[in-house]
Amino acid sequence: MLTPELLNELYGSGARECRTTNDDLKLVFSKSRPLDLVELEQLLEAVGWSRRPVRRVRRALDESILKVGLWRHDERFPRLIGFARCTGDGIIEATVWDVAVHPVYQGSGLGKQMMLYILKTLREMGIERVTLFADSGVVSFYKSQGWTLEPKGHRCAFWYAN
Ligand SMILES: CC(C)(COP(=O)(O)OP(=O)(O)OC[C@H]1O[C@@H](n2cnc3c(N)ncnc32)[C@H](O)[C@@H]1OP(=O)(O)O)[C@@H](O)C(=O)NCCC(=O)NCCS
Repeated sequence: MLTPELLNELYGSGARECRTTNDDLKLVFSKSRPLDLVELEQLLEAVGWSRRPVRRVRRALDESILKVGLWRHDERFPRLIGFARCTGDGIIEATVWDVAVHPVYQGSGLGKQMMLYILKTLREMGIERVTLFADSGVVSFYKSQGWTLEPKGHRCAFWYAN
């Protein structure tokens, strides 16, 4: 276990250790450790998403109400192995975006724990309604965690610039 002092010093307030099945692996959720944008884009590229202009990503992160990093603990160089962010009004509503766990670490419950950390943090912010848009192949990931699917396109509308 990491001491609360070390957790706070390296990962900021609200950081929480993530459960793993490997005793040698220490992972930490943080909502305030600064993100390196190159490292973040490398993570998102590793899960198969195309690169986005760094300047736009920086602005999108600045405008997000919550950014969660999942860090592989190292006292000198923690590595980013998971990420998600939320946009919204910060009071009533939030939408979750960019949920990713590095392929090397997938399939051992980390994505699920990250979603719990996000929802707990949003609840602490007083947010009552959370939405997300899932790729069709990932719908069951969310469904198994209690997310309700939008019923047959009756309540949802989209607009795309192109
Ligand atoms: C989706 C993702 C975040 C899941 O992370 P993970 O750490 O592998 O997920 P977990 O190990 O916590 O899985 C939790 C449960 O969801 C299931 N699951 C995991 N990935 C899934 C997927 N892509 N589709 C359907 N179910 C999935 C697991 O089998 C597991 O089921 P169980 O509780 O019955 O054992 C990760 O696979 C990822 O980063 N994918 C690429 C990016 C992506 O598609 N993000 C979602 C955008 S909408």
